[in-house]
Amino acid sequence: MKKELRKAVIAGNWKMNKTPAEAKALIEEMKPLVKDADCEVVLCVPFVDIPAAVEAAKGSNIKIGAENVHFKASGAYTGEIAANMLTELGVEYVVIGHSERRQYFGETDQTVNLRTLAALEAGLKPIVCVGETLEQRELGYTETLLKFQTKMALTNVTAEQLKNVIVAYEPVWAIGTGVVATPEQADEGNGFCRAAIAEAYGADVAETVTIQYGGSMNAKNADELVSKINVDGGLIGGASLKAEDFSVIVKAASK
Ligand code: 13P
Repeated sequence: MKKELRKAVIAGNWKMNKTPAEAKALIEEMKPLVKDADCEVVLCVPFVDIPAAVEAAKGSNIKIGAENVHFKASGAYTGEIAANMLTELGVEYVVIGHSERRQYFGETDQTVNLRTLAALEAGLKPIVCVGETLEQRELGYTETLLKFQTKMALTNVTAEQLKNVIVAYEPVWAIGTGVVATPEQADEGNGFCRAAIAEAYGADVAETVTIQYGGSMNAKNADELVSKINVDGGLIGGASLKAEDFSVIVKAASK
């Protein structure tokens, strides 16, 4: 295991929170707090917040991401957003396959794969989310499920493209619940994702892929989670809406 081969990435996922004006204010508050980070700092924000967020983050080490992207380049897809609409605004990252998209908006492993391919084609860095439900965990399917979701999401992604992919292991039972995975569970889940990548691309390639943990990560538990060998940063929901808490997590990943 060579953790030093991988860049830690701390990404906030704001979900359906903050207006453009609120986004600007929060980023202004965060900028001085995270400026010395020794990890990648990303904020994935609602589509309409993107112009304000890109403007506010200009000249800082904060990169802006979106929370979803459609798989077609254009066309009759009411309410959807294409990858080149995002890149034109200065977006660098995009969350794909979040469990909330899978649960509430009919996202499947196939559409997650298509969205990942479209993002990569456009030069976006996808943050591909995978994770088991509590029921799947209790039935003993965590490893099978994580390997399947990881491989499905990366179908037809070349080894070259994989350099721009981040995987986020987010156990569904830990998201927004305050029930965080233990550092050992996070490390194990991330390890299953890495093993799936090793099976598809070889162990050397798998060693270089950034795999985040997400699910109730906060200022108090981040240190222990990100110190695990397989945990290369985090995807943060609730705690990314508070500048001080988010900056503590960034500092934990910068050690
Ligand atoms: P919470 O940090 O609020 O549990 O959310 C995690 C998440 O879903 C990040 O994508």
